[in-house]
Amino acid sequence: MDKFRIVGERPLNGQVSISGAKNSALPCMAAALLTSETVTLHNVPYVRDIITLRRLLEDLGATVLTPELHTHKIRAHHIELFEAPYDLVKTMRASVLALGPLLARFGQAKVSLPGGCAIGTRPIDLHLEGFRLLGASVELEAGDVVASAPARGRLQGADVHLGNVTVTGTENLMMAATLAEGRTKIHNAACEPEVKDLADLLNKMGARVHGAGTPTIEIEGVETLGAAEHSVIPDRIETGTFLIAAAITQGELKVKDCRPEHSTALISKLREIGVQVEEADRSTLLVHSKDGNHSLSACDVVTEPYPQFPTDMQAQYMALMTQARGRSAITETIFENRFMHAAELRRLGARIDVNGRTATIEGPTPLKGARLQASDLRASASLVLAGLAARGETVIDRVYHIDRGYEKIEAKLRAVGADITRDRE
Ligand code: EPZ
Repeated sequence: MDKFRIVGERPLNGQVSISGAKNSALPCMAAALLTSETVTLHNVPYVRDIITLRRLLEDLGATVLTPELHTHKIRAHHIELFEAPYDLVKTMRASVLALGPLLARFGQAKVSLPGGCAIGTRPIDLHLEGFRLLGASVELEAGDVVASAPARGRLQGADVHLGNVTVTGTENLMMAATLAEGRTKIHNAACEPEVKDLADLLNKMGARVHGAGTPTIEIEGVETLGAAEHSVIPDRIETGTFLIAAAITQGELKVKDCRPEHSTALISKLREIGVQVEEADRSTLLVHSKDGNHSLSACDVVTEPYPQFPTDMQAQYMALMTQARGRSAITETIFENRFMHAAELRRLGARIDVNGRTATIEGPTPLKGARLQASDLRASASLVLAGLAARGETVIDRVYHIDRGYEKIEAKLRAVGADITRDRE
């Protein structure tokens, strides 16, 4: 398994370009199953999860052409298979996003029930309850979710009240409802920008989705959907990761091709702790330590659904708090086991105490390089950030986790002055 070797204490300087959002590209690719015509997606990030979903679409019978690294032309004309097998779903839970489109267009779908993952049990009960409300029968058979539309073949529009804010649950139900008969209302819907981006694509395909990005989404079902071309929004989590990379190394970065308005909670938190963040324009952020001084002050944070502080930035923020003056408390309200990076950060010398859903960090602590092990996508990013600030060499094992959601991260970091190399094994 590949390793990263980082020699820290080098301030990052220069500019970095943000790739497309993995968590928008994934549902947008799944949406191509809703039509027999070609869906063209631009600004798709070149990351492992995208390759995995491409393979699933091809296994189902779709053709996927990539005329350019970040462009996918998907045509789900001859779909012969309606199932996502276990060995694929276990590597990427986002495969469940095939459920809604397959059920809506073909009246049937069989997807392996995703097991838990490192950060939590991550059930999909809300997805399945939603499909039942749309008239589908949904059974669990030997670890597989087997769903089928009513006898007449079409799902029926319904009022769906989601008991918990779920991003892919909202996306799955929104896609299914586009081809249902009648009107569907999703209450307590996720408001993440990726949900809105998916709705923009669906409407380009001929769907009638209103209110995406707000807690109530209304979908007027249509008979069929057609071809569309769409550019995926920039990745707000990659953006936040590079903002923190500049702050933790006391450097100065120009972050290009991003969408500042999707990162308001993080930006205001960084300003609160003493990081200088300016919006140069609608797609560029400038970040540096305020007036060159290097003292950051500790601030508490609670992760919440969008537009509040994102859970996907929690691990990266914890790395930064090890360098802030004072005590900070980080409360993770979304996932039940998302502090695995804490034990690894302690190996670098960080002072972190985890108690249930809250981690308390005392700073600043000088970090010293050590051997670390990545456990999940965002925890890996946290370890890279800490390695950039640590004295000496940090070696991070199992970096395939980071390759799932960050495009060429070591090349982007090296281009702005980091001493990071990948040992291929
Ligand atoms: C999406 O996961 C993202 N993944 C995650 O990003 C992100 O952390 C998460 O949303 C929260 O923002 C993609 O978009 C592909 P949820 P998702 O359903 O949709 C509970 C990354 O790092 N829940 O919003 O799977 C669930 O257990 C990944 O890129 C139910 O109880 O998350 C969790 O506690 C990690 N029943 C909470 O809701 C359900 O049916 C939020 O989960 C569904 C969810």
